[in-house]
Amino acid sequence: MPQDLMEKIVSLCKRRGFIGPSSEIYGGFESCYDYGFLGTLFKNNIKQNWWKEMTQYRNDIIGVDASILMSPKVWQASGHLTAGFADSLVECQKCHHRFRKDYLKDDKCPDCGGGLTKERKFNLMMKTFIGPVEDEAAVTYLRGETCQGIYMNYQFMKDALRLKIPFGIAQIGKAFRNEITTRYFIFKMREFEQMEMQYFVKPDEKEKEKWFDYWKKERMHWYLSLGIPKENLRFREHQKNELAHYARRAVDIEYKFPWGFDEMEGIHDRGDWDLSNHGEHSGQDLSYYDEASKKKFIPHIIETSAGADRSVLAFLANAYQEVEGGRTKTTEAKKETEIVLRLNKELAPIKVAVLPLVRNKKEIVKKAKEVYDLLKVHWMCQYDETGSIGRRYRRQDEISTLYCLTVDFDSLKKNDLTVRDRDTMKQERIKTGELVDYLREKLERR
Ligand code: GAP
Repeated sequence: MPQDLMEKIVSLCKRRGFIGPSSEIYGGFESCYDYGFLGTLFKNNIKQNWWKEMTQYRNDIIGVDASILMSPKVWQASGHLTAGFADSLVECQKCHHRFRKDYLKDDKCPDCGGGLTKERKFNLMMKTFIGPVEDEAAVTYLRGETCQGIYMNYQFMKDALRLKIPFGIAQIGKAFRNEITTRYFIFKMREFEQMEMQYFVKPDEKEKEKWFDYWKKERMHWYLSLGIPKENLRFREHQKNELAHYARRAVDIEYKFPWGFDEMEGIHDRGDWDLSNHGEHSGQDLSYYDEASKKKFIPHIIETSAGADRSVLAFLANAYQEVEGGRTKTTEAKKETEIVLRLNKELAPIKVAVLPLVRNKKEIVKKAKEVYDLLKVHWMCQYDETGSIGRRYRRQDEISTLYCLTVDFDSLKKNDLTVRDRDTMKQERIKTGELVDYLREKLERR
């Protein structure tokens, strides 16, 4: 797909209320973005799907929701306040634009050709102050990764829920990084959302390798199961010199974005880095007592760390399709290019749209509203009566609605309506009394 696919996605997101710039009336703000109604529904479906896969369909993983603000001691112990969590920054001596050194191809400013300053390390943690006094004692940080909140709950959950190794703790939430450069819409932002799971295992190399491979496969399967084709996904193993400060081994799952393959998720062997450091800095015993072997040890961690926003972008890019002329075969339909967003049924924000054929016939409108009331308690539905029926179909295709239900003149006599399938374009007449069962069969998870 060409690079201009990105422009089309950004434009669709704006036009249909998925995603727009933050603080837009003030000209936007620092590569931050807001999710509108459809974007929120869509992203929630992604997060819910991940959450269910992790915590509902298996019994070895539980979930938490830790606070974003934590003691600054957490970040001291985790290594995030030192060089480990810093990027190399250079500044143009002429236009004073700043760049990440490792993104540059030569030693000139890519904007004006000016000379660059020597590189210096720039820490990515976002500083803030707790309470009314802005002094050093009040400094803390917005979390740079959600998993530290999981480590803070490791002992609490292990003891309260009597968890036995191997077990996992999952969390979804916001993370913040003072990135030097942001890019590609919601791909790299300063405020973003992560879906992270930490799997606690025995400190045994064979055992760790087994679980690392297991999670690699599981996580790849998740993207495949939600409709991303195999050829657009790949693994990329990190070289030793690019490993994060906590990682002994890292493999990325990459998606073929419009600009090329790039990272969506990381699977990391974090060893005992986190629990050992937190144990040492807090003075608490974070070891695990294994009843079978009667041994105590610090568990090692296999982490799966996915970006919710990067998933949003990948699923959007994967689903975006333009169909040349005449897909919507209504009398007033023009032969123009139509956009169809073919999101997986689990992810589509709106499952069903109810459309009265005309809005000036009272009985038709009344019946359509009754159908909408019947369905809205089961699925996310939309009622739409504005514009021609052809336009309304096209609007629903653009936002990925799975089924369009049209109430027409025959519906009044036969107590039925037309159901149009987004992907097959097949239309079936279904009795109103059979609608819920019909749609349940179509929409239920398999
Ligand atoms: N706890 C491990 C960790 O945070 P990471 O590779 O730094 O690992 C994991 O981040 C995932 O978080 C990435 O694969 C990406 O999907 C997402 N992510 C990281 N930085 C991001 C940013 N600036 N904007 C959007 N998503 C980001």
